[in-house]
Parts: sequence; structure tokens; C-alpha cells
Amino acid sequence: MKHIFIAGNWKSNKTIGESAAWVAGFKEKSIALEGKWEALTTVVCVPSLSMQTVKEALTAAALPVAVASQNVSAYDEGAYTGEVTGKMVKEVADWVIIGHSERRKYFGETDEILKNKVEKAKAAGLKVIYCVPDDATVVPPGVDVVGYEPVWAIGTGKTDSPENANSVVSNIKSKTGAAIVIYGGSVTADNVATFVAQPAIDGVLPGGASLDPEKYIRLLAAAVSNP
Ligand code: PGA
Repeated sequence: MKHIFIAGNWKSNKTIGESAAWVAGFKEKSIALEGKWEALTTVVCVPSLSMQTVKEALTAAALPVAVASQNVSAYDEGAYTGEVTGKMVKEVADWVIIGHSERRKYFGETDEILKNKVEKAKAAGLKVIYCVPDDATVVPPGVDVVGYEPVWAIGTGKTDSPENANSVVSNIKSKTGAAIVIYGGSVTADNVATFVAQPAIDGVLPGGASLDPEKYIRLLAAAVSNP
């Protein structure tokens, strides 16, 4: 059975208290994943303010779920008001998502800025999930996982077809040499198996379907139940 990588992206949702409640809910239902963990690497991409709480709660509950930041500074520490550096993130998370289309669209992050962010994240020892909307977008060197996320499929309930996603993912792999490439855009427990059944697709990046811990567990279980 192939190993599946799943990164749940909460986006700008959940207070610290709501984040702790998510972990408690996840723990309560995690029996559904018994015997399935070996086939799975899963990460939750949480707001910066919740990272420490989520990490501590996951550790206390002995859940093999890693924490990811949704952002990192393109600069080192210093006079950059409001920024959270890779070194700060690394104390509480192992991963960071860079290049999400919402960062490109709403926060003006260009390929150049994103490349700097990848460099800073890697220098801090973080593993990087780098999102691209297609197979033509530049992927900076050193990223660990690439996420193919067509913009029109994000949060719309419309997915790419598994076959087309597989062909874009294959192109990304051959162009960039990336070993792990995942698909994102309206992935749910009901459709995840069709994506991970594709030969080139190594996993998924669900947003909305990661917000409820029970739904997220159903999605994880469905992904690794696929023969
Ligand atoms: P969605 O989000 O699953 O809610 O479409 C995916 C993403 O933006 O990462």
C-alpha cells in the first residue's frame, strides 16, 4: 500500500480554545485510525497563535499528527513588525505551507517573496509544503512536498478530475524532481479515495474538510482504506 501524505489546512479559522477542542475531538474519534497510521503522514496547518497549544495537546494525547505553520517570514529576525520567523516557528512546528493561492492573491506574495520564504524556512530546519496552481508555476529548490491546487477548485465544492490532477502532478514531478506531490481543492472523505488511487498523487490538502475533527478522521480513514 502506498504511503499517503495529508495536510489539513485550517486557514484563518479557530481560536486557541477552539484549536484545543479540535485536538480533544480528534483524540476521541481516533480509534477509527487504529492500524492505519503506518500508511499515513498527516499534518495540521494551524494559525500561529494556536501552534503551541495544538502541539502540546497532540503530544499529550500521543497522536502522530505533525503541526504546520501557514506562513513564515521572508526575513531573519529583526525590525520586521508583525512577522514570525522560521526560527520562532521551528520551536512549535515541523512544517510550513508556502505559496498557497490565498497568500498570492490577498497578500501579494510573488514568486520572488515565496522563494525567500522557502530559503528562510529551510535554513530554520522546517519542512516545506509548497503550493502551486498548475504545472507551469516555479517551484523553488528544497521544498519537501508540492501541493497542486487549481484556484477554481479551492473552497468551491468543484474538484479537478482525478485523471487530470494525476497528469498535472506527473508533470510537476518530472519538471521539479519533487518526490511527494499532493492534490488540493474541495477534497472530502467522499472523494479522497479517487485522488489517492491515482498513481502519481501522493496525498491531499483538504481545507474545509479538516475543520471538523470527526470529518477529518473520516477523510484520513477513507484515504488509507483505498486498496
Ligand atoms: P478546500 O481548501 O479543501 O476548502 O477547497 C483547500 C486549500 O485551499 O488548501
